[in-house]
Amino acid sequence: MSTFLRPLSYQYPWLYNTISRLSALAVGGEKRFRSLSLEGININSNSKILDLCCGSGQTTEFLVQKSSQVTGLDASSTAINRAKQIVPEANYVNALAEKMPFPEEEFDLVHSSVALHEMETEQLREILREVYRVLKPEGIFAFIDLHKPTNVLFWPSLATFMWLFETETAWNLLDTNLVNELKAVGFKDCEKHLYAGGSLQVIQARK
Ligand SMILES: C[S@@+](CC[C@H](N)C(=O)[O-])C[C@H]1O[C@@H](n2cnc3c(N)ncnc32)[C@H](O)[C@@H]1O
Repeated sequence: MSTFLRPLSYQYPWLYNTISRLSALAVGGEKRFRSLSLEGININSNSKILDLCCGSGQTTEFLVQKSSQVTGLDASSTAINRAKQIVPEANYVNALAEKMPFPEEEFDLVHSSVALHEMETEQLREILREVYRVLKPEGIFAFIDLHKPTNVLFWPSLATFMWLFETETAWNLLDTNLVNELKAVGFKDCEKHLYAGGSLQVIQARK
């Protein structure tokens, strides 16, 4: 379940961004939050990058500083239109992550920030298969998302956040072993790192 604040946060970008910035304090601020999933990945100005479920371009903004070939994809045309205004350096596609309009082996890197927790279980599996399909051989899927805290002190803040803003799919993600899901699709070299008392997970996996 969630509260009236969830639709409001999607309607008013200032509210969404304020919540994101406050949440990011747990890892030292938004800049660090947006770069955590990219740490250690070799990105150059020609790397073809997909920002999957890019929203209004919150991380796209950081990706375009690293490469001139960034594409943002989101199911919401409202979010895509906002992203086009805020981060015009990227290309954008309004489409479903589980049915991407890209050929096979298109991207060096697929990135996603705090989006997978919005997916139903089977939908999530379809998306992982699609990510695998559009990645070049040896390409990397890197993402950050919610995780079940390992430090009990982080449970109250995560539970409050989830109660206010998230739906059942986010609770389900806490019980999902994403490394196993990635391996089932064919990904290898899956590396998982936890932050903010375990309430955030970063996973990098190679095709
Ligand atoms: C919580 S927001 C994250 C936005 C942004 N990546 C960020 O870091 O703030 C989740 C985004 O996923 C998008 N989304 C949800 N389901 C989707 C799907 N099946 N395909 C593509 N985008 C989807 C939503 O429209 C929303 O913009």
